[in-house]
Amino acid sequence: MTLSTTDLLRELEPVVETNLNRHLATAKEWFPHEYVPWSQGTDFDGVLGGQAWAEEQSTLSDVARTSLIVNLLTEDNLPSYHHEIATLFGRDGAWGTWVHRWTAEEGRHGIAIRDYLLTTRAVDPIALERARMVHMGTGFENAYLDDTALHGIAYVSFQELATRVSHRNTGRISDDPICDQLLARVAADENLHMIFYRNLLGAAFELAPDLAMRAVTDVVRTFQMPGHTIENFGRKSVQIAMAGIYDLRIHHDEVVVPVLRNLKVLETAGLSADGEKARDELVEFLAELDRQATRFSERRDKLNAKKSAKTT
Ligand SMILES: [Fe+2]
Ligand SMILES: [Fe+2]
Repeated sequence: MTLSTTDLLRELEPVVETNLNRHLATAKEWFPHEYVPWSQGTDFDGVLGGQAWAEEQSTLSDVARTSLIVNLLTEDNLPSYHHEIATLFGRDGAWGTWVHRWTAEEGRHGIAIRDYLLTTRAVDPIALERARMVHMGTGFENAYLDDTALHGIAYVSFQELATRVSHRNTGRISDDPICDQLLARVAADENLHMIFYRNLLGAAFELAPDLAMRAVTDVVRTFQMPGHTIENFGRKSVQIAMAGIYDLRIHHDEVVVPVLRNLKVLETAGLSADGEKARDELVEFLAELDRQATRFSERRDKLNAKKSAKTT
């Protein structure tokens, strides 16, 4: 069975409309400025002749800083995401309304996090700005140039949940209740985004189960965080994983499995041989991901035990 992108998007339009209305009714208006402790702010050096940034001004740990920078740079690349999503879904009707609304909400995240980081002098503002320029210079490309947009829908379902978990856990380890409160607010938005896309993916499974299964399998097997093109992302993501903010165990248990379980993906009925093959590949990959997650956690525990033995 072949289903063109146009066919699929047209079939999904009523689902988009229902979920857009649900989203608009559920999402609460909030204001970034209310979450930023402006009284902690002072002028920087340069044009205004204030004080230069120095690391000791930051109350955050090194890993909290790294994670906040990765999360902010991820949000910053929004023009590229908007371009990809608008190209994939189009800008007409409910699709267009959603794409624009989603972009505006993501923009709020970047505003709020940047204002917090600069006001509290949590990170080096010059390094942050240079990293933003480099990252946005790279842009973001949808890795799944298939002909049905299903890979895109599957990707954002997992990606929004991954972003939610990443913001939430970064807030928790920040040791700053103001940071935690801000990131919990941002994470609540990401959760609503995830629900929107997951509901679409669920509808796609009803429309075209074989193609949806193939898309989910491909996406889960090759998943990369949206910020993977950030400079030194490899080193940063290891640091983030070592701190338990986002690691393979979390990816498996709190991102991949919950989406699959919610949609009952593994129990999908009426698959053809192609769909069954995709499901088998998915099951096999999940088992391997689970094994890798356990191996990583064990290695980390050993390393941490060694470290604490050294310091005591
Ligand atoms: Fe966001
Ligand atoms: Fe989001």
